[in-house]
Amino acid sequence: MCGIFGCLGGQNLITQTLQGLRLLEYRGYDSAGIVYRTSAHKLRVIKALGDIDCLTNQIKTRPDTQLCLGHTRWATNGGVTLKNAHPQVSFNKQIAVVHNGIIENYATCRTQLMEKQINLKTDVDTEVIPNILYLLKHNKHNIHNFLHGQYVFAATDITAAPGFFVAKRGTLPLHIGKAADTIYLSSDLLAFPPTVQSLITLNDGDTGEITTNAIKFYHLGKPITKNWQPFTAFSEQTDKNGFNTYMAKEIHEIPTVIERLVTDYQQDNDLLLRQREFHHLLSKANCVHLCACGTSYHAALILAHLIEKHLHQRAIAHVSSEFTDDSLIDEQNLAIVISQSGETADTLTCISTLQAHHVPIVALCNVTSSSIAQQSQLCFPLLCGPEIAVASTKVFCAALLVGCLLINRFDPADFTALSALARTTLRDARQLIKLPATRPQKIFFIGKQIDYFLALESALKVKEVTYTHCEGYPANELKHGPLSLVDSHSLAVVYQGNHTDNAVAEIAARGGQVINLPPLTPDNPLSFIVRIIPAQIMALDMAEQLGINPDKPRNLAKSVTVL
Ligand code: F6R
Repeated sequence: MCGIFGCLGGQNLITQTLQGLRLLEYRGYDSAGIVYRTSAHKLRVIKALGDIDCLTNQIKTRPDTQLCLGHTRWATNGGVTLKNAHPQVSFNKQIAVVHNGIIENYATCRTQLMEKQINLKTDVDTEVIPNILYLLKHNKHNIHNFLHGQYVFAATDITAAPGFFVAKRGTLPLHIGKAADTIYLSSDLLAFPPTVQSLITLNDGDTGEITTNAIKFYHLGKPITKNWQPFTAFSEQTDKNGFNTYMAKEIHEIPTVIERLVTDYQQDNDLLLRQREFHHLLSKANCVHLCACGTSYHAALILAHLIEKHLHQRAIAHVSSEFTDDSLIDEQNLAIVISQSGETADTLTCISTLQAHHVPIVALCNVTSSSIAQQSQLCFPLLCGPEIAVASTKVFCAALLVGCLLINRFDPADFTALSALARTTLRDARQLIKLPATRPQKIFFIGKQIDYFLALESALKVKEVTYTHCEGYPANELKHGPLSLVDSHSLAVVYQGNHTDNAVAEIAARGGQVINLPPLTPDNPLSFIVRIIPAQIMALDMAEQLGINPDKPRNLAKSVTVL
């Protein structure tokens, strides 16, 4: 979590940093801050609690500066306070640091700094970094010998030429982008402005010193050469395109994403080759493990069900954080990991476990430059473009679609018909689930088999963006316990299908309100892929009615890079 953005050289650097941070806000928005060099050769730090709007309101003037570095935070250790927000500065205010990740030996570092009469003022591990950098002076490239953990940070020192010192251990991303007169740092490529034309990505163990005149890189303390790669910015894709929220925009992109996936997966030679390789791996596997978190886990549940049903192969969906060495794994298995961001720490941990058992790993991933994509043997891109709203919508549909293409047991015409079905479902969504006039206190989504998994995903969407208690249940399970919760303040949305009538009758008999969501069409066995849309729209509308910004629900962030 957390986002780092910085710029060096060029014009309007404070404004540019705020713009970059806004695009990284999905990574966390508990607090934010910037540091820039003043004309009096000082570092000026400005911080605010809350999101980038709160920070922007704190910045009364935007003087010209040679360098600006910013951070948006999702608190892991240390409460959400101004003192704990980044940038953190050294005891003498000479060095400022923004950081993402965790310094595991923070307590030891703190004690060692205290022995040198350097007392720390905050509760966050980050504060040790500028102070250790100060002590290291010209040996900064040995910083990895002093810090343990998974981290990436950027620092700036007022006594040196205007520039950044960067360091990375583990998989958390940090990219350096070059435009004609400015160098940028960013945790995500999507925050780079359109002027950025080339790119360097930091690897595990790298450090770098970046000034306007020269860039030097080191790996584990030894000098290395890193070359600029050509880069095209994503700027148009990060626009809201006339929608009020990214969540609304992204739900409405589902038909286009489906069209793109169906065309590319049926025509692109590289993707066709990868599909062939996948079928080869699948044919040798005695069991398929699908590992993912949250929404991606719900896609995994559905795909596991379809693999068993259509291919008659054993398939088990695992919540990544529950997958352990004891999960009966060996090299005869195949693993499918699903992730939008490709940076989810729980899923990366699964990958390490699977690799230790020599299990081939296939990723369904939206961010193909991500750690999960890179660490997998075979990666199938989800081709959704950036998904910025915290609640995942279009990528859920994309993961299901790509999974079904890989299962390879469906009629191509049904894939082709799916985008039109997505369009009519979007059009009719508010008729299919009409929001009740009064806000229900609790909501149940219920269904059977695939519809039960859709119910789980629907409930997750509603609870994430409306803060309403909401559960997904298998239709026939209600009577085994949860029915005791049903009363006249309850709403049940029923994915109508075979054997859901009893559940409807049981809820209605206890005064609960019921909305029946009929199947979209009996003709297309893939229609479940877009049947989630009405629940996504329901969550969006409820959030807007409640005055909640669905793009930034409280306590959450988009890519969960901590365990
Ligand atoms: C829910 C949501 C999360 C993510 C989960 C996994 O709307 O977005 O539940 O699905 O954190 O993230 P990825 O897919 O990036 O691995």
